[in-house]
Amino acid sequence: MRVAVLKERRSGETRVAATPETVKKYIGMGLDVAVEAGAGLASGFVEAAYAEAGASIAADAAAALEGAGIVLAVRAPEAELPRGALLIGTLGADAAAAAAYAAAGVDACSMELLPRITRAQSMDVLSSQANLAGYRAVIEGAAAYDRGFPMMMTAAGTVPAANVFVMGAGVAGLQAIATARRLGGRVSATDVRPAAKEEIKSLGATFVGYEDEESKAAQTAGGYAKQLSAAFYAKQAEVVAAHIAKQDVVVCTALVQGRRAPTLVTAAMVESMKPGSVIVDIAADAGGNCALTQPGEMVVTANGVKVLGFTNWPGRRPAAASALYARNLLTFLSTFWDKEAKAPKLPEDDEIVKGVALTRGGAVVHPLMQPAS
Ligand code: NAI
Repeated sequence: MRVAVLKERRSGETRVAATPETVKKYIGMGLDVAVEAGAGLASGFVEAAYAEAGASIAADAAAALEGAGIVLAVRAPEAELPRGALLIGTLGADAAAAAAYAAAGVDACSMELLPRITRAQSMDVLSSQANLAGYRAVIEGAAAYDRGFPMMMTAAGTVPAANVFVMGAGVAGLQAIATARRLGGRVSATDVRPAAKEEIKSLGATFVGYEDEESKAAQTAGGYAKQLSAAFYAKQAEVVAAHIAKQDVVVCTALVQGRRAPTLVTAAMVESMKPGSVIVDIAADAGGNCALTQPGEMVVTANGVKVLGFTNWPGRRPAAASALYARNLLTFLSTFWDKEAKAPKLPEDDEIVKGVALTRGGAVVHPLMQPAS
C-alpha cells in the first residue's frame, strides 16, 4: 500500500506530516511512501533525506496521490484524493467538509478530535503542538520585550525581572510558565479549571484568579474548560484587571473547545499597562484572548504596548513541530494496523477511532459532523 505525504498549501503552514524518521518506520511496516517534492523544505527536511529513508519523491500532489491508500497531511488537502483512501490530518472539518469526504469515498480522520485519554497521549497532536506553541510564545515575547527577563545586577545598576502573566494553564500555558521561569521571569498564571491551580503552583508560579462555586465545576469530563456565565467572566475580569496593570509580558493561551476564544484582556486593561509591555496571544487562531489582537499581526497600541497575534504558533518551530506531529500520526497508524494485511484497521467501536473518524465507506459517521436538521 502506498502512503502519500503532501506538501502543505495553506499560507503560512510550514509543517509536514511525515519526516525521514517516520518514513523509515512506515517502510518497515511494509508500506511504500511517496513524498511530494518540497514537502519538508520549510521544516528543514530535504528531499535527499526522505529518499535516503526509502521514500520516492513525486513531482507534484497528483503524482504522490496516484494509487495511494493512505494520505498524511497537516491541514485538509486541496487535491482530489483517490477513492477509498484513508486521510489523516488536522482537517478542521465541518459538516459540509465531512459530507464532501464521504461523497469522494475518502475515510477521513481528524486528529484534533482525539479524545484526551491516557491511551491516546502519544497520538495527541493538540498536546504536542500546543507544548511547542507555549514555548515559542515566551521566546517571541522575550524578544519583543525591550527589557530583560531575569533580574540582572550590574555595575551600571539593576535590571528588574520581568513580571510574566500566563492566562490559561493547559498544555501551552504550562509550557509557557516553565519557559518563562527558565528565562528568569517572575511568573503568575490564571485558569478557571480547579486542577490547573495546583499545576500552576507546582511549576513555581503564583496563582491569580477568581474562584467560586461555578469555577469548581468548570471542567468538562473531557478535561476542557466549560463556557462560564457572563457574571463569572465579569468577576474574573476584575481580578485580572488589577493584576495586569503590573505585568510586563502577558501570554494568552485560554481556549474553550469549539468556541471563539474568551476575551480576557480588554482594551482598558491594555491601556493600563506600561509602555514597552508585550501581550503574546497564542489564542489568535481562535480569535484571540485580547480585544486588540489582530490575527496574524503585531499591533503597537497608542500607549506603546505590543500585541503579538501571530497565528500557527507551532509552525513557528517547524522542525520540532513536524517531528512530533509526524510521530503522533505514526503512533496512530501503527496502533490501528493489521500486520498481516499490512493495512490500517480502524475498529468502529474503539474510543479513539470513534473520536477522530469523520467518514467511513462513503458515510459521515462522526456525531459532530451530521448535517443540521
Ligand atoms: P485548551 O487549549 O482547550 O485551553 C487552554 C486553557 O485555557 C485550559 O487550561 C482552559 O482551562 C483555559 N481557559 C479556558 N477559559 C479560561 C478563562 N476564562 N480564563 C483562564 N483560563 C481559561 O486546553 P488544553 O491545553 O488542550 O488542555 C485541556 C485539558 O486536557 C487539560 O486538562 C489537560 O491537562 C488535559 N489533557 C489531557 C491529555 C490526556 O490525558 N491525553 C492530553 C492533553 C491534555
